[in-house]
Amino acid sequence: MTSETSPTGLRSNLVNYGDAEFALFLRKAFIKGAGYSDDVLERPVIGIVDTESGFNPCHGNMPELIKAVERGVMMAGGFPVSFPTISLHESFSHPTSMFLRNLMAMDTEEMLRALPVDAVVLIGGCDKTVPAQLMGAASAGRPAIQLVTGSMLTGSHRGRTVGACTDCRAFWGRYRAEEIDDAEIEEVNGRLVGSVGTCSVAGTASTMAAVAEALGVALPGSAAPPAVTAERMRVAEMTGRRAVGLAEEKLDINQILTPAAFDNAFRVLLAMGGSTNALVHLAAIAGRCGYTLDLDAFDAMSLETPVLVNLKPAGAHYMEDLHRAGGVQRLMTEISDLLDLDTLTVTGRTLGEELAEAPAPYPQDVIRPREDPIYPAGSIAVLRGNLAPAGAIIKQAAAAPALLEHTGRAVVFEDAADLAARIDDEALDVTADDVLVLKNIGPVGAPGMPEGGYIPIPRKLARAGVKDMVRISDGRMSGTAAGTIVLHVSPEAAAGGPLAVVRDGDTVTLSVKDRVLAIDVDDAEIARRLALVEVRPKPKRGYAKLFVEEVTQAEEGCDFRFLQAEETTAAVPRRAGSTGTAGVSS
Ligand code: FES
Repeated sequence: MTSETSPTGLRSNLVNYGDAEFALFLRKAFIKGAGYSDDVLERPVIGIVDTESGFNPCHGNMPELIKAVERGVMMAGGFPVSFPTISLHESFSHPTSMFLRNLMAMDTEEMLRALPVDAVVLIGGCDKTVPAQLMGAASAGRPAIQLVTGSMLTGSHRGRTVGACTDCRAFWGRYRAEEIDDAEIEEVNGRLVGSVGTCSVAGTASTMAAVAEALGVALPGSAAPPAVTAERMRVAEMTGRRAVGLAEEKLDINQILTPAAFDNAFRVLLAMGGSTNALVHLAAIAGRCGYTLDLDAFDAMSLETPVLVNLKPAGAHYMEDLHRAGGVQRLMTEISDLLDLDTLTVTGRTLGEELAEAPAPYPQDVIRPREDPIYPAGSIAVLRGNLAPAGAIIKQAAAAPALLEHTGRAVVFEDAADLAARIDDEALDVTADDVLVLKNIGPVGAPGMPEGGYIPIPRKLARAGVKDMVRISDGRMSGTAAGTIVLHVSPEAAAGGPLAVVRDGDTVTLSVKDRVLAIDVDDAEIARRLALVEVRPKPKRGYAKLFVEEVTQAEEGCDFRFLQAEETTAAVPRRAGSTGTAGVSS
């Protein structure tokens, strides 16, 4: 037996028995018991994070993906070993998958620290899984490469293409407005999700897939191929092959996750018209690397970034169309002057080198040219004011233009239960000009900051044809949803934010032009009302207790404080003229 100062492969991360040679002896015995020969001891070990779950249809192609990754690893001379972590699906995670994202990040990080892996392939897809994996991998500081499961196929309903989840919400809205009947809502229910894979619009999963490619932690061209295509499997095989290269080169993910890489990710999020949730997740991943989110710099970047991708909910098409149009590489080529092309990617080459070899453009109408954007600029705007001292956001690209400058009477719901109890009450005193305010669905309040910000239009108004209203909350909204919806109000109501003191009848002003969110209540009255706010009961045990005690606000990514990097070295996105800092491992 040999002893090495920097062991790799199965000789690394030995169990601490106080006798390293015995630990290796035991490990070899178990590996042989599993039917392997000593040959595997000489190969780079490539971990493959298996997030298959019967409760996660967005990861339904996981077995095929793992087989393809394993094939690629073996072709390149590595030893592939898959292992599970928890898996999260949006529709199967009570009270909200966001409540469990940090738990999945901890699971991922600790497995990467514990297991003898030289590099790891992170396979995720559904909204919270990719953020969780990147957060964990950034903290563990290992060579890592992201592989997404890919989008689902669209379906067809009465001759019209439909896909989750923008159309799910649109049809449900029509059903609430009594525009379609019980039979049709049941019929379309079986058409909306065409296959396994992630949601087929520019929701959070699609946005995070694009963001992973823009960060440089996923292979070029890997974000858009749908889940059930041959191309998705070839991407998986290539990812496995490249993981062996990462192990041999010892290319750590933190060498890729530089401030400049985050600049590129924010830029792609904006140019895609992507999900507001990606802002929270990018803040969390950045926080693991020692970078803080500069909301004002993000707003400035938004103002100079056109939305070019014509995908629902802001546009018309679906992810499979984006793939056919050239995917994220085509988008990044279109905005290449706005990107930092010197950033290193997981291929070992720069983003500029990769884009230079991207397939040639061809006529298509999904990724617009710069001179013909789907939305000129400012797809996500940052708001401030006495209602959101630490900021709030609105996806104006998906809002009703007429409501972006609006003053109205507040109709207040104290929490999600209050909303559910009263929103459809025929006696509710509400008009289309009012502003719906929902409190206590923030990171601490809910807890977990659920996607409750998409407050439904009161049924009696929906029936009368009202399609949109100004809605405000400290929660999030699905990236597949649309409307004039102010989100991520910070500090949240449950953390002492002024949202807690809004009362029915207060006058609320939203001015996206001036970036203002305010109530007509002076500071002294806000302070007086805050002193009267009752402290809501908090969980007393387990993960829920840990969560509410340690979770940060939206602008810090809703990560746990003790998981953030110990040192802050940069703010992202960088402001013009500032210099980048090399990636820092926490
Ligand atoms: Fe998984 Fe939408 S529910 S991506």
